[in-house]
Amino acid sequence: MADVKFYKCTKCANMFVKVLEGPCTPVCCGEPCEELVAGSVDAATEKHVPAVTREDGTIVARVGEVAHPMLDAHYIQFIALASDDRLEVRRLQPGAEPVATFADDGAENVTVYEYCNLHGLWKAEL
Ligand SMILES: [Fe+2]
Repeated sequence: MADVKFYKCTKCANMFVKVLEGPCTPVCCGEPCEELVAGSVDAATEKHVPAVTREDGTIVARVGEVAHPMLDAHYIQFIALASDDRLEVRRLQPGAEPVATFADDGAENVTVYEYCNLHGLWKAEL
């Protein structure tokens, strides 16, 4: 498991990721940001937990087991991969496939995150 921390401003649309861990909470608009807690168990019919597979030298992350909507009002805004020595973020747009691919460097501790504009942060371990 390679955890990274994501934060969201409570007043504006800014989101942050901690590239390196320090003791402080990021501040935006004069207030401490909210740390996003990633869900990892889907409840309802809509699926958010990334389905992550290794395929011929590539790590493929799909959201989710049933493809998530990619509408203007409801879509996956990013998919991120974190391992012990890597952090990569793919930003997605409405209309795109809710999928991201990453080079597979053989890392064992891999966590994939995704962020839905309505339902928040989710993660899965590879
Ligand atoms: Fe959603």
